[in-house]
Amino acid sequence: MRTGINRQLRLTSRPVGDIKESDFEYREEPIPSPQEGEILVRTIYLSLDPTNRIWMSDMEQYMPPVEIGEVMRGAIIGVVEESKNQNFKQGDLVSGLLGWQDYAIAEGNSGFSLMRLPAPLPCPLTTFVGPLGFTGCTAYFGLLDIGQPKVGETVVVSAAAGAVGSIVGQIAKIKGCRVVGITGSDEKCRWLVEELGFDAAINYKTVDLESAIAQACPDGIDVYFDNVGGSILDAVLTKINLHARIPLCGLISAYNATEPVPGPYNYSHLLMKRVRVQGFIILDYIPRWSEAISDLGQWLNQGKIKYALEVVEGLGNAPKAILKLFNGNKKGKLVVKVSEEPS
Ligand SMILES: NC(=O)c1ccc[n+]([C@@H]2O[C@H](COP(=O)([O-])OP(=O)(O)OC[C@H]3O[C@@H](n4cnc5c(N)ncnc54)[C@H](OP(=O)(O)O)[C@@H]3O)[C@@H](O)[C@H]2O)c1
Repeated sequence: MRTGINRQLRLTSRPVGDIKESDFEYREEPIPSPQEGEILVRTIYLSLDPTNRIWMSDMEQYMPPVEIGEVMRGAIIGVVEESKNQNFKQGDLVSGLLGWQDYAIAEGNSGFSLMRLPAPLPCPLTTFVGPLGFTGCTAYFGLLDIGQPKVGETVVVSAAAGAVGSIVGQIAKIKGCRVVGITGSDEKCRWLVEELGFDAAINYKTVDLESAIAQACPDGIDVYFDNVGGSILDAVLTKINLHARIPLCGLISAYNATEPVPGPYNYSHLLMKRVRVQGFIILDYIPRWSEAISDLGQWLNQGKIKYALEVVEGLGNAPKAILKLFNGNKKGKLVVKVSEEPS
């Protein structure tokens, strides 16, 4: 039996509109002990993701919502502190859906909710919350499996300077496409073009979006990787090409909505241009994970993919930090450092 405190953040109310810090409750509990078949995991990094907002709501969704009073669900990277499961040993590094807390008990056979990271690590541990984690795989399968970009085509991605979007654009460049990113600040636009090699970037907050898209996409749009929905989707549809593909990855512009969101208004373009729109959830691709990791790992090593990581210190800052996903006040992947990496 370990002594010590397990700090936790529990969901205390379902947000109305923007997430509020008061939607979470801070609790201290004893560190739990694993039973036969279980392991005790110490959280090192907690990933903050737009889908946290979905899980906090009781809208129709792809897995059960977090119940009021439950520890907030979250993707983490951690280290096995104690194992009563023959498949894991103390010191193993793992990733999984374990929650906003210092320590969690995991069943060693819980599939996607717990994966062992390679040992020795081929790259920094934080890479596994970014390009080699859920967000990198989302970019990879969404773009390549659903978007099916071809050399010379034009790919547009929204929330382009974010965790998923920044990787989407770089994969599309690797595949020989013209790549245009849409994001919410001039500084992020510069980063996309000057550092990540996008062909053009549009600050959707300061321009007339339809004309900016027309200018940046003179040959129209063949693949639109949609992270956002709403008015950006409508503007993109005005320039969509015949037989274009739209991987529908996320709808962040609507996650905080308090009323049903109307649109898209330019829906008819999907018919006239015979466009294929396909929603996808990355969890469905778990059986093919190694394909993505192998390619993404190689591109990272070759310097063909770069990534930015914003690290917020301390579990207690997670409820405030998550707002950055919605006000855009960050670049690349957002994570909370909960405890130290093993030396
Ligand atoms: N389908 C799946 O399995 C799957 C998996 C992972 C993520 N996703 C989805 O992919 C999208 C991106 O996720 P991520 O983890 O990479 O997050 P992210 O892009 O790192 O962060 C979210 C970004 O969205 C932008 N944004 C926020 N509100 C917006 C609005 N109203 N209109 C336009 N842009 C807005 C902000 O950047 P700006 O400065 O550009 O506004 C913000 O930085 C989300 O919709 C998420 O739900 C889906």
